[in-house]
Amino acid sequence: MESSLRLIGGPILAVAISAAAPAAAQDSEFGVLHVAPGVEDTFYACTPCHSEMIVAQQGLSRAGWDELLDWMVEEQGMVELEGEERQVILDYLAAHYNEDRPNFPKLQ
Ligand code: HEC
Repeated sequence: MESSLRLIGGPILAVAISAAAPAAAQDSEFGVLHVAPGVEDTFYACTPCHSEMIVAQQGLSRAGWDELLDWMVEEQGMVELEGEERQVILDYLAAHYNEDRPNFPKLQ
């Protein structure tokens, strides 16, 4: 008489995939926007409708931002920015979100 033992299968390895959150989401109250003069005006003017990420990922010249603000008013229903506020926001965007995109958010 002969007995045989067959082992069926093997240990099942549970692979835990840990979604490691990128450390330290910025604690800024202005989200991903670079904190500098004008950030507050920019944040509050632009985020009622969409994330500030949309702003931060765009790199434009000052003239480009100028046109984009017109477009935002004419086509997207943004309240027109009055005189000085528009300058402050344009200065901010042109300085920190210009074509070289010095503050392009690093997505993980
Ligand atoms: C009244 C709502 C509203 C406000 C306020 C607003 N936006 Fe927008 N914005 C939109 C909408 C809607 C779109 C999407 C348009 C589309 O893609 O058709 C958009 C898209 C954009 C885009 C992406 C453009 C592209 O090429 O896809 C940028 C950049 C942008 N907005 C910048 C700004 C900035 C800067 C401000 C603040 C000065 C601002 N927005 C304020 C409604 C708004």
